[in-house]
Amino acid sequence: PPWHDGDIGEVLVSEEEIATRIAALAAQVDADYAGRELLLVGVLKGAVMVMADLSRALRTPVTMEFMAVSSYGSASSSSGVVRILKDLDRSIEGRDVLVVEDIIDSGLTLSWLLKNLRSRNPGSLEVLALFRKPEAITVDVDVRYVGFDIPSAFVVGYGLDYAEHYRTLPFVGTLTPEAIARGPRPS
Ligand code: PRP
Ligand code: MN
Ligand code: MG
Repeated sequence: PPWHDGDIGEVLVSEEEIATRIAALAAQVDADYAGRELLLVGVLKGAVMVMADLSRALRTPVTMEFMAVSSYGSASSSSGVVRILKDLDRSIEGRDVLVVEDIIDSGLTLSWLLKNLRSRNPGSLEVLALFRKPEAITVDVDVRYVGFDIPSAFVVGYGLDYAEHYRTLPFVGTLTPEAIARGPRPS
């Protein structure tokens, strides 16, 4: 497997649970946007897995755009400073936009991003986040679709990284204190 024995403490959400939940979220989105075309905006890099799986589970016609914003750098807690590393390639004016995120932690990234996207006059603007840490949220963000509420532990997998590693784990799990102390290593 693409991780080391002893790095993962507990599997919080299994591969199968993720697949089942994404199918259910896709059905909800399909019902809500019936007859319309969606513009999915994925937030690099964490959202790549949910973007890939959600977009293929939808029956609604979609186009995809990606933005890269950074609030964390390589640190493991939020600085509140958001920078655009890669902007959208085209206008979202008048479009039905669904922002796709892997996780809402403090909410700072999304809160900033929504303000930014709203100023570009989309026809509608909603958010889908596969994971949310309710105990960690410091700013209130309006999120239409949430996959799972999870405890406020340091988690990795399915897009979530520890200093860029562990994103490709098919599940979401906690990192052991040993793995955190040792620092990231090539998988
Ligand atoms: C992570 C995660 C969310 C954001 C959530 O991204 O993917 O985008 O942090 O944190 P917040 O709610 O406290 O703002 P990160 O900045 O680590 O970049 P990445 O997606 O490239 O890992
Ligand atoms: Mn991210
Ligand atoms: Mg990250």
